Amino acid sequence: MKLTLNSPLDMHLHLRDGQMLQNIAKYSSSCFAGAIIMPNLISPVTTIKEVEAYKKRILKATGGDEFEPFMTLFFQNSYDYKFLKEAKDHIKAIKLYPSGITTNSQGGVNNFEIDSLKQTLEAMSELELPLLVHGETNGFVLDREREFGSFYEKIAKAFPKLKIVMEHITDKASVKLLEKFDNLYATITLHHLLITLDDVAGGLLKPHLFCKPIAKRYEDKEALLDLALNANPKVMFGSDSAPHPKNKKESCGCAAGVFTAPVALPALCELFEKHHKLENLQKFISSNAREIYKLTPIQKNITLEKKEFSVPQNYGGVVPMFAGEKLSWRYI
Ligand code: DOR
Ligand code: ZN
Repeated sequence: MKLTLNSPLDMHLHLRDGQMLQNIAKYSSSCFAGAIIMPNLISPVTTIKEVEAYKKRILKATGGDEFEPFMTLFFQNSYDYKFLKEAKDHIKAIKLYPSGITTNSQGGVNNFEIDSLKQTLEAMSELELPLLVHGETNGFVLDREREFGSFYEKIAKAFPKLKIVMEHITDKASVKLLEKFDNLYATITLHHLLITLDDVAGGLLKPHLFCKPIAKRYEDKEALLDLALNANPKVMFGSDSAPHPKNKKESCGCAAGVFTAPVALPALCELFEKHHKLENLQKFISSNAREIYKLTPIQKNITLEKKEFSVPQNYGGVVPMFAGEKLSWRYI
């Protein structure tokens, strides 16, 4: 059995910088037509100059692959209309991190009062620039995403024309919110469709499955699966593939992030086939995102076949999800 996917898109990707970028960029650019690039570098991407310089480094690292990096800025409440009007030609969206919530997010938002965010959000709304949000409070780890819901409600109501993407949703409460507001959308990762907290910490600790937001309960995973497998038009695939060197994962104080870029499409084929929903994968992996972001990707067909794929132990010093395991689909 074979499946050809037209212009797969990864709507949430960490490509890093420097040597890591060199080591891992190809695993996305070879099999995706484009990706939304996260701006949480050690020094976050906050200026047009930085966006363009980072894009250049990405294109160099992807070595001529047909792949478009969709750039983003790291949200700051000092961004005004004039700046964003100019930035709009260089970016597809702006990513908001609560301060300190995850990797390289120290420069994120501390004050969630509408008044403090208004200047930037109003301008984004007017310029039709989507707001991408890492939606977690600093409460108890299993409640963080649910607690963040009240902020989503507040901005969805205050800025009804602003497209808000709830990034990497993990919780059934987020699924409910998505249904409640027309201007809320969501990305879903591969790993949150496959694992629960039990897989991370129920037996021996699995550092390579540790990420933010942490995987939740069985019923949460089922709610996400229902959205993805049925290709709900408000959701799109965003891998949140987040490489960290092996020694930073297998250490005391393990970094958060699951590296899925090289296995994402084979594993999604396996998952959708298992649920007899392969016909919906094209929408989840590309068409929904084109509609939500109003973008036309580079034309690129990626064919996979149902044949065993033994996943390597590491790619460029990074341990992928399914390392040393077998998947039932592979790239041709
Ligand atoms: O697990 C995560 N890793 N979650 C994030 O939000 C950021 C990411 C990273 O950059 O490593
Ligand atoms: Zn991320």
